[in-house]
Amino acid sequence: MEILEKVRELVKPQYDKLGCWIHSWMHIEDVVKFSRELAELEGIDPFPCIVAAYCHDLGRIEEELRELRGDLYLPHALLSIEPTIDVLKEVGIFGVNFAKIVEAVAVHSYRVYEGNNEVARILQDADKLVGLGPRGFLDLIKHFGKEDLIDPQEIIKHARDKEKLRGFDKIAMEKIKQGLLLENVIKGLNIKIEYANMFHADSAKQLGKEGVEYLKNIRDQLIFKFGV
Ligand SMILES: [Fe+2]
Ligand SMILES: [Fe+2]
Repeated sequence: MEILEKVRELVKPQYDKLGCWIHSWMHIEDVVKFSRELAELEGIDPFPCIVAAYCHDLGRIEEELRELRGDLYLPHALLSIEPTIDVLKEVGIFGVNFAKIVEAVAVHSYRVYEGNNEVARILQDADKLVGLGPRGFLDLIKHFGKEDLIDPQEIIKHARDKEKLRGFDKIAMEKIKQGLLLENVIKGLNIKIEYANMFHADSAKQLGKEGVEYLKNIRDQLIFKFGV
């Protein structure tokens, strides 16, 4: 079996255990897709980038368990290190690729990464790209607002149907009222709009343009509606 296929088979059942839909399998598949695309556009070997994408959020599973148990909070990127090493050992990845993938996973949620590990740079860009556009808005309502305004099963079912997702966004916007949820949603939108200035690769900047504009438009509509 090809190594990438083996990695996929090892990680998928782990992500399938996640309770929260934002970082579920569809998120991972999309980060893999963007990692491959960006690596090709930037002339970088896609292999370690794809493996890093498959492994990057494995720590979310332990994060959820720790939260349930009331254990001390630890960043999920750090919790991803151990399960990533297990996967790499299992499929026989070692040497330079091993080091680059583990570092990429460990730093993937840093706000600023100034190192020159190209796998880490591609992974950060790919992870950000997935959070933009019509589905990015639904993700951030849950992530920053801690609420599901649209049934997550419906979001997952239509995860790749932009038209349908735009419709969900409209419904969600109508449900947002003045108050803490609005404040948190605006905060989340501002963070994601900032991504436009944080991409490492020029190709990521280009790919992210439309998605950032989409979120800017939503933020401006909310500001106009509520005068915040
Ligand atoms: Fe993450
Ligand atoms: Fe992620």
